[in-house]
Amino acid sequence: MAPAGIPASSTVTLHINGEKYTLPVDHRTTLLDALRERLDLTGTKKGCDQGQCGACTVLVDGRRTVSCLQFAVAAEGRDITTIEGIADERLTGGLHPVQQAFVELDGYQCGYCTPGQICSAVAVLEEHAAGWPSAVTEDVRPEAGPPPLTPEEIRERMSGNLCRCGAYVSIVRAVAQAAAQPADGVKEQVA
Ligand code: FES
Ligand code: FES
Repeated sequence: MAPAGIPASSTVTLHINGEKYTLPVDHRTTLLDALRERLDLTGTKKGCDQGQCGACTVLVDGRRTVSCLQFAVAAEGRDITTIEGIADERLTGGLHPVQQAFVELDGYQCGYCTPGQICSAVAVLEEHAAGWPSAVTEDVRPEAGPPPLTPEEIRERMSGNLCRCGAYVSIVRAVAQAAAQPADGVKEQVA
């Protein structure tokens, strides 16, 4: 309970997948609970609820964020992308290349942690293209540019997302395939 004189809730406007949602939230409400319980955006999943599994990953201003550790009020005005907004029919005419690769290479498994895996992979490709090093990058000098996106690099960059069903091998292949696609090389959505 908030101390006397300090409000316990606020009305916030969240920018999600290109839409604006204005809603009152208790200050203790996480972004994850706001998405799932208040806005019916249930593609984002709750796994551990303590920042360890990556199932709740969304993009906030293009950066990977575990939404179970982010308060909804702290996300006000930020540009939030959930799994529901990854494929943009208006822009691509189909699935995101990462989604397409997951379909083709069997990266989809239980479906519970896949949304978080997809969101992370989309950001991984952007981080890599921007030249960000990872913990396994050997040459981290800015002038060295993006390192080769080897399986080891992909595994390290995706290591915040757990999969207990053993799809890691397929996921690494799918991320590598998506990385090799030209930016405008999105294929038709599969039925
Ligand atoms: S539910 Fe957020 S990291 Fe597991
Ligand atoms: S895809 Fe969910 S446990 Fe593997």
